[in-house]
Amino acid sequence: MYFSCINCEEKYSINENIYTCRKCGDLLEVKLDIQEVKRKIKDEKWRSIPISVWRYSAFIPIRDYSKIITLNEGGTRLHFCQRLAQELGIKSLYVKNEGDNPTASFKDRGMTVGVTRACELNAKNLICASTGNTSASLAAYAAKAGLNCYVIVPSGKIAYGKLAQAIIHGAHVIRIRGDFDQALKMVFKFSCENKDVYLLNSINPFRIEGQKTLSYEICEQLNKPPDWIIIPVGNAGNISAVWKGFVEFKECGLIESLPRLAGIQAEGAAPIVKAFEKRVDIIEPIPNPETIASAIRIGAPVSWKKALKAIYESKGVAITVSDNEILKAQKDLASKEGLFVEPASASTIAGLHKLLKFNIIKRDELVVCIATGHGLKDPDIVLKMIDSTIEIEADLNSLINLIKSV
Ligand SMILES: Cc1ncc(COP(=O)(O)O)c(C=O)c1O
Ligand SMILES: [Zn+2]
Repeated sequence: MYFSCINCEEKYSINENIYTCRKCGDLLEVKLDIQEVKRKIKDEKWRSIPISVWRYSAFIPIRDYSKIITLNEGGTRLHFCQRLAQELGIKSLYVKNEGDNPTASFKDRGMTVGVTRACELNAKNLICASTGNTSASLAAYAAKAGLNCYVIVPSGKIAYGKLAQAIIHGAHVIRIRGDFDQALKMVFKFSCENKDVYLLNSINPFRIEGQKTLSYEICEQLNKPPDWIIIPVGNAGNISAVWKGFVEFKECGLIESLPRLAGIQAEGAAPIVKAFEKRVDIIEPIPNPETIASAIRIGAPVSWKKALKAIYESKGVAITVSDNEILKAQKDLASKEGLFVEPASASTIAGLHKLLKFNIIKRDELVVCIATGHGLKDPDIVLKMIDSTIEIEADLNSLINLIKSV
């Protein structure tokens, strides 16, 4: 097992405290020793552990599993969405609800591993840039581990629920007059120059090692891989992680086929879709990205290379959806399936509509949409867009009259 540079393939020891390649500056990824993993999972003991991130510890490069920092992440529910499926004329639609995680987003999968790694390295200070969910998650895991936490967010651009989470968990919340892309550049440079501050953005390969368990869970919950995974793309760490998970499960002989990936971006923040449409291997960053889905309001995704590779390898696609399509999908999922997800997550349902219309996804294929975060994180969006509440006098007649009239 070792780190490998995704560009020049330089190898580094897994014990090094390093985020990017010293030779070419590109991202690193963990290369597992698949034979070793196969040996570990052969005894089937892992199958007695309930579905969760740490059920898959054989796939996670941590030294001492008795010292993990955990809030019981993973094991999120996979919902069969019959009403929406019927409306869309599709046979099998599932939503993997990552809002079930301890801080209500998929980020917890990566943070349990990333913060455990930080403890192995004896780090005392943790840092991240965030559109919101990363800060909420890191703040919670730092609290659990008793470590100092700094989160850098774009001022006025993060959903209130997420900000409240970071504050209550005791993080130092620093708002910059700028966007996420600028925040990430700042924390990356800072943590490279200050080795006593450990970086926990998804540039850190250990975050990816936790997030990939999302795919393992789906395979086990369905007893097979789906035909399609539809996933929102912001900084592009998660789509890379999800692909890594499926590929590893196949390499270990636990599944026979791989799903196709559909990466969804908002129209105003879609550098990966633009590259995909031109079928090129490089992105052009988008200055001043804009969308109502603040979690994916990112113009220069750091893991773009991994994401494009995953999309191409899976024979997948990348498409955009508009803010209005996102809001409609959010309402549909909540009012027809009882699932309240945040706008970035709803982009997957909006994307599914389009992919069916374009005949890219066939109606008899098995589709899983990844709902990455809970809707309560961003209640302002709903209240701003839909005001369907009715005020009446506090008497029974007013109530009777109203109910008769609606
Ligand atoms: C709810 C939600 N969905 C999607 C994403 C995008 O994930 P990634 O940045 O790994 O592409 C994020 C990232 O912040 C998020 O918080
Ligand atoms: Zn390199």
